[in-house]
Amino acid sequence: MTSQPSPFGTTMLVTGGAGFIGSNFVRLATQRYPELRIIVLDALTYAGNADNLAGLDSNVELVVGRIEDEGNVDKLAAKADAIVHFAAESHNDNSLRDPSPFVHTNLVGTFTLLEAVRKHGNRFHHVSTDEVFGDLTLDDPARFTEETPYRPSSPYSATKAGSDHLVRAWVRSFGINATISNCSNNYGPYQHIEKFIPRQITNLLTGRPAKLYGDGANVRDWIHVDDHNDAVLAILERGRPGETYNIGANGEHSNKEVIELICELMGGTYKHVADRPGHDRRYAMDASKLRGELGWTPHYGQDFRAGLEQTVAWYRTNEAWWCGHKEAVEQGYRAQAQ
Ligand code: NAD
Ligand code: DAU
Repeated sequence: MTSQPSPFGTTMLVTGGAGFIGSNFVRLATQRYPELRIIVLDALTYAGNADNLAGLDSNVELVVGRIEDEGNVDKLAAKADAIVHFAAESHNDNSLRDPSPFVHTNLVGTFTLLEAVRKHGNRFHHVSTDEVFGDLTLDDPARFTEETPYRPSSPYSATKAGSDHLVRAWVRSFGINATISNCSNNYGPYQHIEKFIPRQITNLLTGRPAKLYGDGANVRDWIHVDDHNDAVLAILERGRPGETYNIGANGEHSNKEVIELICELMGGTYKHVADRPGHDRRYAMDASKLRGELGWTPHYGQDFRAGLEQTVAWYRTNEAWWCGHKEAVEQGYRAQAQ
Protein backbone atom coordinates (compact mmCIF):
# COMPACT_ATOMS: atom_id res chain seq x y z
CA MET A 1 0.00 0.00 0.00
CA THR A 2 1.27 3.49 -0.86
CA SER A 3 0.06 6.69 0.71
CA GLN A 4 1.03 9.25 -1.92
CA PRO A 5 -1.51 12.01 -2.66
CA SER A 6 -3.76 11.16 -5.57
CA PRO A 7 -2.68 12.79 -8.87
CA PHE A 8 -6.35 13.38 -9.68
CA GLY A 9 -7.28 15.57 -6.70
CA THR A 10 -8.87 15.00 -3.33
CA THR A 11 -12.43 13.96 -4.26
CA MET A 12 -13.53 11.37 -6.81
CA LEU A 13 -17.08 10.65 -7.94
CA VAL A 14 -17.49 6.99 -8.93
CA THR A 15 -20.71 6.17 -10.79
CA GLY A 16 -21.90 2.57 -10.51
CA GLY A 17 -19.56 2.08 -7.56
CA ALA A 18 -21.94 -0.39 -5.88
CA GLY A 19 -21.78 -2.78 -8.85
CA PHE A 20 -19.26 -5.52 -9.62
CA ILE A 21 -16.33 -3.66 -11.19
CA GLY A 22 -17.11 -0.30 -9.57
CA SER A 23 -17.06 -1.65 -6.00
CA ASN A 24 -13.80 -3.51 -6.62
CA PHE A 25 -12.45 -0.23 -8.04
CA VAL A 26 -13.46 1.73 -4.92
CA ARG A 27 -11.72 -0.89 -2.75
CA LEU A 28 -8.51 -0.70 -4.82
CA ALA A 29 -8.52 3.11 -4.99
CA THR A 30 -8.99 3.50 -1.22
CA GLN A 31 -6.10 1.08 -0.63
CA ARG A 32 -3.81 2.96 -2.99
CA TYR A 33 -4.90 6.45 -1.95
CA PRO A 34 -6.06 6.33 1.69
CA GLU A 35 -6.54 10.12 1.73
CA LEU A 36 -8.86 10.14 -1.29
CA ARG A 37 -12.52 10.97 -0.63
CA ILE A 38 -14.84 8.89 -2.80
CA ILE A 39 -18.50 9.64 -3.49
CA VAL A 40 -20.30 6.68 -5.07
CA LEU A 41 -23.36 7.58 -7.15
CA ASP A 42 -25.38 4.42 -7.73
CA ALA A 43 -29.08 3.79 -8.39
CA LEU A 44 -28.87 0.39 -6.65
CA THR A 45 -30.65 -1.33 -9.50
CA TYR A 46 -30.99 -5.12 -9.29
CA ALA A 47 -27.22 -5.20 -10.09
CA GLY A 48 -26.11 -2.78 -7.37
CA ASN A 49 -25.66 -3.69 -3.73
CA ALA A 50 -24.68 -1.36 -0.90
CA ASP A 51 -23.11 -4.36 0.89
CA ASN A 52 -20.47 -4.46 -1.86
CA LEU A 53 -18.98 -1.39 -0.15
CA ALA A 54 -19.16 -2.83 3.39
CA GLY A 55 -15.98 -2.46 5.39
CA LEU A 56 -14.69 0.48 3.41
CA ASP A 57 -13.53 3.36 5.54
CA SER A 58 -15.32 6.59 6.30
CA ASN A 59 -13.82 8.25 3.20
CA VAL A 60 -16.45 6.50 1.06
CA GLU A 61 -19.97 7.94 0.84
CA LEU A 62 -22.80 6.24 -1.06
CA VAL A 63 -25.37 8.51 -2.70
CA VAL A 64 -28.33 6.56 -4.08
CA GLY A 65 -29.48 8.14 -7.32
CA ARG A 66 -29.55 7.88 -11.10
CA ILE A 67 -26.93 9.27 -13.45
CA GLU A 68 -29.73 10.68 -15.64
CA ASP A 69 -30.79 12.95 -12.73
CA GLU A 70 -29.34 16.23 -13.95
CA GLY A 71 -29.76 18.19 -10.71
CA ASN A 72 -28.14 15.57 -8.50
CA VAL A 73 -25.33 14.90 -10.97
CA ASP A 74 -24.60 18.63 -11.21
CA LYS A 75 -24.45 18.94 -7.42
CA LEU A 76 -22.09 15.98 -7.04
CA ALA A 77 -19.87 16.97 -10.00
CA ALA A 78 -19.40 20.39 -8.36
CA LYS A 79 -17.78 18.61 -5.38
CA ALA A 80 -15.53 16.26 -7.36
CA ASP A 81 -12.12 16.68 -8.99
CA ALA A 82 -12.36 13.48 -11.01
CA ILE A 83 -15.28 11.34 -12.19
CA VAL A 84 -14.89 7.66 -13.03
CA HIS A 85 -17.94 6.39 -14.89
CA PHE A 86 -18.81 2.70 -14.40
CA ALA A 87 -22.62 2.95 -14.12
CA ALA A 88 -24.37 1.03 -16.88
CA GLU A 89 -26.91 -1.58 -17.70
CA SER A 90 -24.33 -4.26 -18.38
CA HIS A 91 -25.91 -7.61 -19.30
CA ASN A 92 -26.37 -8.61 -22.94
CA ASP A 93 -29.14 -11.14 -22.24
CA ASN A 94 -31.20 -8.45 -20.47
CA SER A 95 -30.71 -6.05 -23.38
CA LEU A 96 -32.28 -8.69 -25.66
CA ARG A 97 -35.31 -8.97 -23.35
CA ASP A 98 -35.79 -5.17 -22.91
CA PRO A 99 -33.39 -2.63 -24.46
CA SER A 100 -35.11 0.41 -22.97
CA PRO A 101 -33.13 0.78 -19.68
CA PHE A 102 -29.92 0.41 -21.70
CA VAL A 103 -30.78 3.46 -23.80
CA HIS A 104 -31.70 5.51 -20.71
CA THR A 105 -28.74 4.65 -18.52
CA ASN A 106 -25.96 4.10 -21.03
CA LEU A 107 -26.80 6.94 -23.42
CA VAL A 108 -28.85 9.55 -21.54
CA GLY A 109 -26.91 8.90 -18.31
CA THR A 110 -23.53 9.37 -20.00
CA PHE A 111 -24.81 12.50 -21.75
CA THR A 112 -25.95 13.93 -18.38
CA LEU A 113 -22.52 13.32 -16.84
CA LEU A 114 -20.74 14.88 -19.82
CA GLU A 115 -22.79 18.04 -19.55
CA ALA A 116 -21.85 18.30 -15.86
CA VAL A 117 -18.17 17.74 -16.75
CA ARG A 118 -18.42 20.48 -19.37
CA LYS A 119 -19.69 22.86 -16.70
CA HIS A 120 -17.39 21.90 -13.81
CA GLY A 121 -14.18 20.93 -15.66
CA ASN A 122 -13.69 17.53 -13.96
CA ARG A 123 -11.16 14.95 -15.09
CA PHE A 124 -13.45 12.26 -16.61
CA HIS A 125 -12.77 8.59 -17.26
CA HIS A 126 -15.32 6.52 -19.17
CA VAL A 127 -15.29 2.76 -18.62
CA SER A 128 -16.31 0.87 -21.74
CA THR A 129 -16.13 -2.54 -23.34
CA ASP A 130 -14.48 -4.50 -26.14
CA GLU A 131 -17.97 -5.37 -27.42
CA VAL A 132 -18.16 -2.02 -29.24
CA PHE A 133 -15.88 -3.59 -31.89
CA GLY A 134 -18.33 -6.40 -32.70
CA ASP A 135 -16.80 -9.86 -33.00
CA LEU A 136 -13.95 -11.75 -34.69
CA THR A 137 -14.10 -15.15 -36.33
CA LEU A 138 -12.56 -18.02 -34.39
CA ASP A 139 -9.61 -18.36 -36.78
CA ASP A 140 -8.94 -14.63 -37.29
CA PRO A 141 -5.33 -13.85 -36.27
CA ALA A 142 -6.38 -10.24 -35.52
CA ARG A 143 -7.17 -8.69 -32.14
CA PHE A 144 -9.11 -5.48 -31.49
CA THR A 145 -6.91 -2.37 -31.40
CA GLU A 146 -7.90 1.22 -30.57
CA GLU A 147 -8.25 1.76 -34.35
CA THR A 148 -10.70 -1.11 -34.99
CA PRO A 149 -13.96 0.28 -36.41
CA TYR A 150 -17.04 0.13 -34.19
CA ARG A 151 -19.52 -2.63 -35.16
CA PRO A 152 -21.65 -3.44 -32.08
CA SER A 153 -24.06 -6.39 -32.24
CA SER A 154 -26.47 -6.17 -29.28
CA PRO A 155 -28.56 -3.37 -27.76
CA TYR A 156 -26.10 -3.39 -24.83
CA SER A 157 -23.00 -2.99 -26.99
CA ALA A 158 -24.72 -0.47 -29.30
CA THR A 159 -25.52 1.79 -26.34
CA LYS A 160 -21.98 1.44 -24.99
CA ALA A 161 -20.64 2.32 -28.47
CA GLY A 162 -22.93 5.35 -28.53
CA SER A 163 -21.68 6.46 -25.11
CA ASP A 164 -18.05 6.22 -26.31
CA HIS A 165 -18.93 8.40 -29.31
CA LEU A 166 -20.54 10.97 -26.98
CA VAL A 167 -17.36 11.14 -24.88
CA ARG A 168 -15.15 11.62 -27.96
CA ALA A 169 -17.47 14.32 -29.31
CA TRP A 170 -17.36 16.19 -25.97
CA VAL A 171 -13.53 16.00 -26.03
CA ARG A 172 -13.34 17.33 -29.58
CA SER A 173 -16.16 19.88 -29.47
CA PHE A 174 -15.91 21.16 -25.91
CA GLY A 175 -12.34 20.26 -24.89
CA ILE A 176 -13.25 18.23 -21.80
CA ASN A 177 -10.38 16.32 -20.14
CA ALA A 178 -11.52 12.74 -20.71
CA THR A 179 -10.11 9.30 -21.37
CA ILE A 180 -11.87 6.07 -22.40
CA SER A 181 -10.96 2.45 -21.72
CA ASN A 182 -12.40 -0.57 -23.53
CA CYS A 183 -11.93 -3.76 -21.54
CA SER A 184 -12.51 -7.45 -22.17
CA ASN A 185 -14.61 -9.86 -20.03
CA ASN A 186 -14.06 -9.46 -16.29
CA TYR A 187 -14.35 -12.11 -13.61
CA GLY A 188 -13.81 -12.12 -9.84
CA PRO A 189 -15.59 -11.47 -6.52
CA TYR A 190 -18.89 -9.54 -6.37
CA GLN A 191 -19.91 -10.28 -10.00
CA HIS A 192 -23.67 -10.59 -10.37
CA ILE A 193 -24.77 -14.23 -10.71
CA GLU A 194 -26.55 -13.53 -14.02
CA LYS A 195 -23.10 -13.50 -15.69
CA PHE A 196 -21.45 -16.59 -17.16
CA ILE A 197 -18.81 -17.55 -14.57
CA PRO A 198 -20.73 -16.81 -11.34
CA ARG A 199 -23.88 -18.32 -12.84
CA GLN A 200 -22.08 -21.62 -13.37
CA ILE A 201 -20.36 -21.57 -9.97
CA THR A 202 -23.69 -20.94 -8.21
CA ASN A 203 -25.46 -23.49 -10.41
CA LEU A 204 -23.06 -26.14 -9.19
CA LEU A 205 -23.25 -24.92 -5.58
CA THR A 206 -27.06 -25.29 -5.69
CA GLY A 207 -27.11 -28.71 -7.33
CA ARG A 208 -27.98 -27.46 -10.83
CA PRO A 209 -25.94 -28.36 -13.91
CA ALA A 210 -23.82 -25.61 -15.48
CA LYS A 211 -25.39 -24.17 -18.68
CA LEU A 212 -23.44 -23.72 -21.90
CA TYR A 213 -24.97 -21.66 -24.73
CA GLY A 214 -24.91 -23.31 -28.16
CA ASP A 215 -21.78 -25.26 -29.10
CA GLY A 216 -19.66 -23.39 -26.52
CA ALA A 217 -16.97 -22.57 -29.10
CA ASN A 218 -17.45 -18.80 -28.53
CA VAL A 219 -14.29 -17.20 -27.20
CA ARG A 220 -14.02 -14.50 -24.54
CA ASP A 221 -10.81 -12.75 -23.43
CA TRP A 222 -10.90 -13.03 -19.62
CA ILE A 223 -9.28 -10.58 -17.23
CA HIS A 224 -9.43 -10.50 -13.44
CA VAL A 225 -11.39 -7.47 -12.16
CA ASP A 226 -8.39 -6.27 -10.10
CA ASP A 227 -6.25 -6.18 -13.23
CA HIS A 228 -8.94 -4.15 -15.03
CA ASN A 229 -9.16 -1.67 -12.18
CA ASP A 230 -5.39 -1.40 -11.85
CA ALA A 231 -5.35 -0.42 -15.55
CA VAL A 232 -8.08 2.20 -14.96
CA LEU A 233 -5.96 3.71 -12.18
CA ALA A 234 -2.90 3.70 -14.47
CA ILE A 235 -4.91 5.64 -17.08
CA LEU A 236 -6.12 8.11 -14.45
CA GLU A 237 -2.57 8.53 -13.18
CA ARG A 238 -0.63 8.63 -16.43
CA GLY A 239 -3.03 8.49 -19.42
CA ARG A 240 -2.97 11.20 -22.06
CA PRO A 241 -6.10 13.42 -22.21
CA GLY A 242 -8.44 12.54 -25.05
CA GLU A 243 -6.94 9.06 -25.55
CA THR A 244 -8.56 5.64 -25.62
CA TYR A 245 -6.81 2.58 -24.16
CA ASN A 246 -7.71 -1.06 -24.72
CA ILE A 247 -7.47 -3.25 -21.61
CA GLY A 248 -6.93 -7.00 -21.84
CA ALA A 249 -4.68 -9.70 -20.40
CA ASN A 250 -4.35 -12.19 -23.29
CA GLY A 251 -6.86 -14.46 -21.57
CA GLU A 252 -8.67 -16.04 -24.52
CA HIS A 253 -10.65 -19.20 -23.70
CA SER A 254 -13.67 -20.82 -25.30
CA ASN A 255 -16.79 -20.99 -23.14
CA LYS A 256 -16.50 -24.78 -23.27
CA GLU A 257 -12.97 -24.62 -21.83
CA VAL A 258 -14.13 -22.30 -19.05
CA ILE A 259 -17.16 -24.38 -18.08
CA GLU A 260 -15.07 -27.58 -18.12
CA LEU A 261 -12.49 -25.94 -15.86
CA ILE A 262 -15.22 -24.80 -13.44
CA CYS A 263 -16.69 -28.33 -13.43
CA GLU A 264 -13.23 -29.78 -12.81
CA LEU A 265 -12.47 -27.36 -9.94
CA MET A 266 -15.86 -27.89 -8.29
CA GLY A 267 -16.80 -31.43 -9.34
CA GLY A 268 -19.91 -31.04 -11.47
CA THR A 269 -21.45 -31.41 -14.91
CA TYR A 270 -22.78 -29.08 -17.58
CA LYS A 271 -25.40 -29.23 -20.30
CA HIS A 272 -25.84 -27.43 -23.62
CA VAL A 273 -28.79 -25.01 -23.78
CA ALA A 274 -30.25 -22.78 -26.51
CA ASP A 275 -27.84 -20.22 -27.91
CA ARG A 276 -28.07 -16.44 -27.33
CA PRO A 277 -29.56 -14.66 -30.40
CA GLY A 278 -26.86 -12.80 -32.35
CA HIS A 279 -24.21 -14.34 -30.08
CA ASP A 280 -20.80 -12.73 -30.73
CA ARG A 281 -18.30 -15.41 -31.70
CA ARG A 282 -14.98 -14.13 -30.40
CA TYR A 283 -13.48 -11.13 -28.62
CA ALA A 284 -9.71 -10.57 -28.32
CA MET A 285 -7.97 -7.43 -27.13
CA ASP A 286 -4.63 -5.96 -28.14
CA ALA A 287 -3.54 -3.96 -25.08
CA SER A 288 -0.07 -3.07 -26.35
CA LYS A 289 -0.75 0.69 -26.24
CA LEU A 290 -1.60 0.48 -22.53
CA ARG A 291 1.39 -1.74 -21.81
CA GLY A 292 3.85 0.30 -23.93
CA GLU A 293 2.76 3.84 -23.04
CA LEU A 294 1.78 3.41 -19.41
CA GLY A 295 3.94 0.41 -18.43
CA TRP A 296 0.89 -1.54 -17.22
CA THR A 297 1.07 -5.31 -16.76
CA PRO A 298 -1.62 -7.59 -15.36
CA HIS A 299 -0.96 -9.23 -11.99
CA TYR A 300 -3.11 -12.33 -12.59
CA GLY A 301 -2.13 -12.28 -16.26
CA GLN A 302 -2.68 -15.61 -17.87
CA ASP A 303 -2.98 -17.59 -14.64
CA PHE A 304 -6.68 -17.98 -15.26
CA ARG A 305 -6.89 -21.16 -13.22
CA ALA A 306 -5.59 -19.39 -10.08
CA GLY A 307 -8.01 -16.50 -10.65
CA LEU A 308 -10.93 -18.90 -11.09
CA GLU A 309 -9.97 -20.86 -7.95
CA GLN A 310 -10.01 -17.59 -5.97
CA THR A 311 -13.39 -16.70 -7.50
CA VAL A 312 -14.93 -20.11 -6.73
CA ALA A 313 -13.68 -19.81 -3.16
CA TRP A 314 -15.27 -16.35 -2.82
CA TYR A 315 -18.72 -17.59 -3.95
CA ARG A 316 -18.45 -20.60 -1.62
CA THR A 317 -17.58 -18.36 1.33
CA ASN A 318 -20.13 -15.64 0.52
CA GLU A 319 -23.24 -17.72 -0.09
CA ALA A 320 -25.39 -15.18 1.81
CA TRP A 321 -24.41 -12.54 -0.77
CA TRP A 322 -26.03 -14.45 -3.67
CA CYS A 323 -28.34 -17.24 -2.49
CA GLY A 324 -31.36 -14.98 -1.87
CA HIS A 325 -31.72 -14.09 -5.55
CA LYS A 326 -30.46 -17.28 -7.25
CA GLU A 327 -33.93 -18.68 -7.93
CA ALA A 328 -35.19 -15.38 -9.37
CA VAL A 329 -32.21 -15.16 -11.74
CA GLU A 330 -32.82 -18.72 -12.94
CA GLN A 331 -36.54 -17.99 -13.38
CA GLY A 332 -35.60 -15.07 -15.63
CA TYR A 333 -33.45 -17.38 -17.74
CA ARG A 334 -36.22 -20.00 -17.88
CA ALA A 335 -38.65 -17.35 -19.15
CA GLN A 336 -36.15 -16.76 -21.93
CA ALA A 337 -35.81 -20.57 -22.40
CA GLN A 338 -32.08 -20.71 -21.62
P1 NAD B 1 -22.84 -4.17 -12.98
O1 NAD B 1 -24.11 -4.41 -13.71
O2 NAD B 1 -22.33 -5.17 -12.02
O3 NAD B 1 -22.93 -2.78 -12.17
C1 NAD B 1 -23.52 -1.65 -12.71
C2 NAD B 1 -23.79 -0.67 -11.56
O4 NAD B 1 -24.38 0.53 -12.13
C3 NAD B 1 -24.79 -1.20 -10.52
O5 NAD B 1 -24.32 -0.93 -9.22
C4 NAD B 1 -26.07 -0.43 -10.82
O6 NAD B 1 -26.89 -0.23 -9.66
C5 NAD B 1 -25.52 0.88 -11.35
N1 NAD B 1 -26.48 1.57 -12.24
C6 NAD B 1 -27.18 1.04 -13.28
N2 NAD B 1 -27.94 1.99 -13.85
C7 NAD B 1 -27.71 3.14 -13.17
C8 NAD B 1 -28.19 4.47 -13.30
N3 NAD B 1 -29.06 4.79 -14.24
N4 NAD B 1 -27.72 5.40 -12.44
C9 NAD B 1 -26.84 5.09 -11.47
N5 NAD B 1 -26.35 3.83 -11.30
C10 NAD B 1 -26.79 2.88 -12.14
O7 NAD B 1 -21.79 -3.85 -14.12
P2 NAD B 1 -20.22 -4.17 -14.19
O8 NAD B 1 -20.02 -5.51 -14.75
O9 NAD B 1 -19.61 -3.82 -12.89
O10 NAD B 1 -19.78 -3.11 -15.31
C11 NAD B 1 -19.35 -1.81 -14.94
C12 NAD B 1 -18.93 -1.06 -16.20
O11 NAD B 1 -17.87 -1.75 -16.84
C13 NAD B 1 -20.04 -0.93 -17.24
O12 NAD B 1 -19.95 0.36 -17.82
C14 NAD B 1 -19.70 -2.01 -18.26
O13 NAD B 1 -20.18 -1.65 -19.54
C15 NAD B 1 -18.20 -2.00 -18.20
N6 NAD B 1 -17.53 -3.25 -18.57
C16 NAD B 1 -17.91 -4.43 -17.98
C17 NAD B 1 -17.21 -5.60 -18.29
C18 NAD B 1 -17.57 -6.93 -17.65
O14 NAD B 1 -17.02 -7.94 -18.04
N7 NAD B 1 -18.44 -6.96 -16.66
C19 NAD B 1 -16.16 -5.56 -19.22
C20 NAD B 1 -15.83 -4.35 -19.81
C21 NAD B 1 -16.50 -3.20 -19.47
O1 DAU C 1 -16.61 -8.31 -23.26
C1 DAU C 1 -16.96 -7.45 -22.23
C2 DAU C 1 -18.39 -7.73 -21.82
O2 DAU C 1 -18.37 -8.98 -21.13
C3 DAU C 1 -18.98 -6.65 -20.92
O3 DAU C 1 -19.07 -5.45 -21.67
C4 DAU C 1 -20.37 -7.05 -20.42
O4 DAU C 1 -20.84 -6.09 -19.51
C5 DAU C 1 -20.25 -8.39 -19.73
O5 DAU C 1 -21.53 -8.84 -19.32
C6 DAU C 1 -19.62 -9.42 -20.66
O6 DAU C 1 -20.49 -9.71 -21.78
P1 DAU C 1 -20.71 -11.22 -22.30
O7 DAU C 1 -22.00 -11.27 -22.98
O8 DAU C 1 -19.49 -11.71 -22.99
O9 DAU C 1 -20.73 -11.95 -20.84
P2 DAU C 1 -21.66 -13.12 -20.22
O10 DAU C 1 -21.08 -13.38 -18.86
O11 DAU C 1 -23.09 -12.80 -20.31
O12 DAU C 1 -21.35 -14.34 -21.17
C7 DAU C 1 -20.02 -14.78 -21.43
C8 DAU C 1 -20.10 -15.88 -22.47
O13 DAU C 1 -20.73 -17.03 -21.88
C9 DAU C 1 -20.95 -15.52 -23.68
O14 DAU C 1 -20.35 -16.09 -24.83
C10 DAU C 1 -22.30 -16.18 -23.40
C11 DAU C 1 -21.91 -17.42 -22.61
N1 DAU C 1 -22.87 -17.89 -21.59
C12 DAU C 1 -23.43 -16.97 -20.74
C13 DAU C 1 -24.31 -17.38 -19.76
C14 DAU C 1 -24.94 -16.38 -18.81
C15 DAU C 1 -23.17 -19.25 -21.47
O15 DAU C 1 -22.64 -20.08 -22.24
N2 DAU C 1 -24.03 -19.65 -20.49
C16 DAU C 1 -24.62 -18.78 -19.63
O16 DAU C 1 -25.38 -19.21 -18.74
